[in-house]
Amino acid sequence: MSKDQILKNTNAKLLDQFNASVMFDKELYAQDIKGSIAHSKMLALQGIITVEDQEKIEAGLLRIKSEIEAGEFEWKIEHEDVHMAIESKLTEYIGDAGGRLHTARSRNDQVATDFALYVQDKTIVIKEKLENLIKTFVDIASKHTETLIPGMTHLQHAQPVNFGFHMLAYANMFKRDYERFVSSYERNNNCPLGSAALAGTPHNIDRFKTSELLGFDAPTACALDTSSNRDFALEILFNISTTMMHISRISEELILWSSYEFGFVKMSDEYATTSSIMPQKKNPDVPELLRGKTGRVYGNLMGLLTVMKGLPLAYNKDTQEDKEGVFDSVATAEISIDILTSVMDTLIINVDAMENACKVGHLSATDLADYLVQKANLPFRTAYYITKDVVAVANKLGKDMSELTIEEIRGANSEVASINDDILEYLNLRNSMNARTSFGGTSTARTQEQVKYFQEWLDGLN
Ligand code: ARG
Repeated sequence: MSKDQILKNTNAKLLDQFNASVMFDKELYAQDIKGSIAHSKMLALQGIITVEDQEKIEAGLLRIKSEIEAGEFEWKIEHEDVHMAIESKLTEYIGDAGGRLHTARSRNDQVATDFALYVQDKTIVIKEKLENLIKTFVDIASKHTETLIPGMTHLQHAQPVNFGFHMLAYANMFKRDYERFVSSYERNNNCPLGSAALAGTPHNIDRFKTSELLGFDAPTACALDTSSNRDFALEILFNISTTMMHISRISEELILWSSYEFGFVKMSDEYATTSSIMPQKKNPDVPELLRGKTGRVYGNLMGLLTVMKGLPLAYNKDTQEDKEGVFDSVATAEISIDILTSVMDTLIINVDAMENACKVGHLSATDLADYLVQKANLPFRTAYYITKDVVAVANKLGKDMSELTIEEIRGANSEVASINDDILEYLNLRNSMNARTSFGGTSTARTQEQVKYFQEWLDGLN
């Protein structure tokens, strides 16, 4: 073979490979078959194909589906994509009738339909997984509404809160995620099929029927928009990114909390791995991976946003690049939510370490300032500076503010020289936590109220 011939052959092969999506879009086989069956039913109902042909098409497609599921279907690059692979197999099985299936549709609305069905299916799966995760946070919260933990800002001790309250912060984040999946599902529940290549079709189709058969609310409104719209894919990528960001934040806390310096929690042995060189170590690989995977998930979102940004209407082949990132983000979200759920479920909580840590950093300092505002009617800023003096005295004595005697407080600043000794009650750490009774505050009573709210919300989902 001459060099030119070799190059020509190689190029043809390379181009096939380059152009093909079948090796990844075969993931959509079930949606493709479901969409085709619905389309064929509608075509028969409209008298566009015969009932016999429809029956042959449906039986053929179901046969192909079971072959795929049994691992007996041969995916070939030369078929380019999942749609062509299934259609050509169908024609091989049922002859002419197979060729009638593609009447009044194009691969443009077909792929949009398959992908929308996939995104909708996965939205439900992820939403249900989130429900379990939220439940786990609420269960932990219900058991720890009186467990003190240092509440922090800037990763510095700030005010005492209870651990249940801290868990509910995550329950709130994941509830917003849950609601984002609900709302994107509702917004995107429209059927692309029948938009055809870009402009609709002259055949007398019933798009409402197809939409109904596939479980969508209605057909999409504009064929031109439909054939290149990928907003639904972007939405699931964004929803997953935000969920992973929340997963990454709790992972970061678990990593910190399980360090020697914090010692607040211990992850069950199955979630901690040993070092290959330091036998004494237990590493938090699992939350580290959860945190790390978040990066790739963000990349998938940025990738598709970038693919879409320069596309003129309507379909362009660039859009074929929409799938791998979505498949990857979906798989990552599914496993990450499940893994985090079991990490949290088996977490060993060291109540003593959390409560001891509260005795460092003058967590009840704000309570003195609040006391002076409420009891002595001082402007908050004045009270703030007096409190600063008391903190300085505590630092000098090497004590936490909650451990100062009344004399030590009175000696700190002339403005508090005769302060009532009930201030000691206010500086008590548990009282400080329980004083925060404003709506959404950390007091045990408010936290219990939130736990109840969440339990009712969860009950209401089913
Ligand atoms: N494999 C293609 C994709 O995923 C299917 C649509 C092809 N349409 C076309 N006009 N070439 O986007």
